[in-house]
Amino acid sequence: MQKNNSADCIIFDEQAEYCHYVASINRGQDLRYYLETLGCQMNEADSEQISGMLMQMGYSQTQDIMKADIIVFNTCCVRENAEFKLYGHIGELKTIKQANKDLIIVICGCMMQQTHVVEKIKKSYKFVDIVFGTHNRHELPRLLYKRISEKKKIYEVWENSKGIAENVPIERKSRITAFVPITYGCDNFCSYCIVPYVRGREKSRDPKMIKKDIMKLASEGIKEITLLGQNVNSYSYEMDFSELLHYISDIPYIDRIRFMTSHPKDLSDNLIKAMKDIPKMCSHIHLPLQSGSTNVLKQMNRKYSKDDYLVLINKIKQSIEDITISTDIIVGFPGETEEEFEETLDVYRKAGFDFAYTFIYSKRNGTPAANRQDQISDDIKNKRFAKLITLVNEMTLKSNINDESKIMQVLVEGRSRTNDTMMTGRTRGNKIVNFKCEADCTGSLIDVKIIKGHTWHLEGEMI
Ligand code: 5AD
Ligand code: SF4
Repeated sequence: MQKNNSADCIIFDEQAEYCHYVASINRGQDLRYYLETLGCQMNEADSEQISGMLMQMGYSQTQDIMKADIIVFNTCCVRENAEFKLYGHIGELKTIKQANKDLIIVICGCMMQQTHVVEKIKKSYKFVDIVFGTHNRHELPRLLYKRISEKKKIYEVWENSKGIAENVPIERKSRITAFVPITYGCDNFCSYCIVPYVRGREKSRDPKMIKKDIMKLASEGIKEITLLGQNVNSYSYEMDFSELLHYISDIPYIDRIRFMTSHPKDLSDNLIKAMKDIPKMCSHIHLPLQSGSTNVLKQMNRKYSKDDYLVLINKIKQSIEDITISTDIIVGFPGETEEEFEETLDVYRKAGFDFAYTFIYSKRNGTPAANRQDQISDDIKNKRFAKLITLVNEMTLKSNINDESKIMQVLVEGRSRTNDTMMTGRTRGNKIVNFKCEADCTGSLIDVKIIKGHTWHLEGEMI
């Protein structure tokens, strides 16, 4: 094992006391919270903890912002426009606050780990009541208690993580699938990325806590879990990631295990073997390529070449039958030439990806790439992006058409939002399947024959 990045554990007990105090103050009132989450799955998982804490403090959720007694924005700062959008959003809250003086406005998450953002909120958005960051998220009960009892504005952001908070209450969005964070933070410092600065050094959770969480989920009826981390492959706490998969693989009633995200430089043969050997492992891997040019990859500090990546993809495809591979691509990294962009398209075709998340390079202050003088113009970035999207959609459709007439296991997540007679779920490869079914079979594992591949989903019929 190369390193041990095990985290200290912060027990929630003290905060649980504050939950109790706030709940007693709130007793007898019908109070609501409105929560908006921006960004990645990690933020979604954080928001489920925020919901859990608020529920324990006597608030129930509302989708109507106008009916809320407390509004929480959990922010993301991976791309620049998110920051501008947030200021617009906060600005809109001013009129709601004017109409309801008791309303409590909370802004938290990655963006609050940036000092200039907190300063701007203090100065320009004085009606915001509480600001906290990602590292002290579990302190919401204490902060809310302080706000209610002392009636002062609260700006408390921990600069660094002091450990991982365990036993935080969680209110999950889905009753079928669940996110389980296994690492927090990132040590990779890709030159374009703000995450290591706002989420801090990589820390792994105690495997016993992870197992305990999953056993609880199993007892609540959850069928599928997704282990989360910026780079799950570098998990290290008495065991490595492939060992962790074996360690949790025997938990009864959990039918499927997924994970994301993987970094190509850390994806081990042991992991590929674990995916093959453990029947519950889903046949999907999300493996961000970012760029298909070895030169750009070097400048991105990704630590692999185009050839390394293609060799790895071949190895995975040869080892795991019918694996679905998805990726992240960034276009317009500083200095990216037309030829280098074309290499990305070429690698995309060669790797035969099933789907991709695509990004236009966004300058993040504080990252090495932001200081470069050779930034690409918006016009060129947009043209490259359009070209990439065309290829991605074409290849996704091809991959989905290739599934036609196959029989696939689907975990049914609920009724289709657009058609009442259809159920929707995901294959082991993480593709969405819609199929006709009168009875509500949410939560079941069903074999479905794929009758048509579309760009965004598969259409199937029960067999
Ligand atoms: N600009 C554009 N995309 C970015 N990502 C991370 N930082 C940036 C940035 N500055 C993308 C990467 C990463 C995904 C989660 O977000 O592709 O894998
Ligand atoms: Fe950002 Fe790179 Fe870490 Fe992913 S691996 S979070 S892109 S620094």
